[in-house]
Amino acid sequence: MPGYFGANLDGAKPLNYDDYLKVPQLISLQECKSSPAHHDEMLFIIIHQTYELWFRLILHECDSAMVAMSNNDAILAERQLGRVVEIERILVPQIHILETMLPVDFLAFRDHLKPASGFQSAQFREMEFACGLKDERILAAFNDQPEALERLKKRLVAPTLADGFYDLLFHRGFDVTRSPERSQTELWQTWQEKTAKQLVKIYLTPSQHYELYRLSERMLEIDEYTSLWRYHHVRMVERMIGFKSGTGGSDGVGYLQRTLSYKFFPELWQVRNYLENTSNP
Ligand code: HEM
Repeated sequence: MPGYFGANLDGAKPLNYDDYLKVPQLISLQECKSSPAHHDEMLFIIIHQTYELWFRLILHECDSAMVAMSNNDAILAERQLGRVVEIERILVPQIHILETMLPVDFLAFRDHLKPASGFQSAQFREMEFACGLKDERILAAFNDQPEALERLKKRLVAPTLADGFYDLLFHRGFDVTRSPERSQTELWQTWQEKTAKQLVKIYLTPSQHYELYRLSERMLEIDEYTSLWRYHHVRMVERMIGFKSGTGGSDGVGYLQRTLSYKFFPELWQVRNYLENTSNP
């Protein structure tokens, strides 16, 4: 039995915290572009890196939830998407840490970032694609990142969380299909209505379809928290740079404002329109 900090009997060095978590590597990854390094650039880098780590876990959980759904395991899928919701919940207030930076402090190192931008976050795009918000035009932003481009191309044709959910519902006797492409606007709208009307069965009597109800609500929450993040991000951006254009070349706040109406699973919101009061007066 080795002592807590001692060597194993076979002489091998026991695993320690830093080796396991690669802390030395992790804390050597913050390379400021400003020179001398501006005090707040460290915050700017760490906050983005932290987001990227959480994005990684979100994708890990979403992929796993897809497998669970294809195995007809709604309970496991719900638990995994529940974790995604909890992660997203903390992604929203993290924005406020950035708001401790003064606009003039950001301006002091902002030019060094150009033309890099959050617009090029491959994992954020992967999350959008996995949740059904697929836009092939986004790929052009990754032409100089072959690995990221490859991952995004795969996600573009892979089933989405909603596809997994509706396959599972179909398996359980609901008259639902996978969604057509969003670009086929009319077909897509008809599909949304038809699907929302099927979902009414779950939402009118949740106790009879409890697993499915909870799974559906977790997906809705993922949608809701992503919108909340978008909202806090655009307000923070306006607070920081006003209506200046973004380092990625967009018109900044104007562009971000237009993304606020995006929804991953519009039919899960639409179902509310078809609910009637069924309790006795
Ligand atoms: C001072 C802080 C920040 C500013 C001023 C800022 C500004 C912007 C601007 C102007 C855009 C639009 C694209 C462009 O032209 O560049 C954008 C997009 C984006 N930013 Fe930020 N950002 C900040 C922090 C963050 C943080 C901490 C994250 C976390 C990952 C983030 C993630 C993103 C993402 C994912 C997009 C793409 C959004 C979309 O296309 O829907 N940003 N940002």
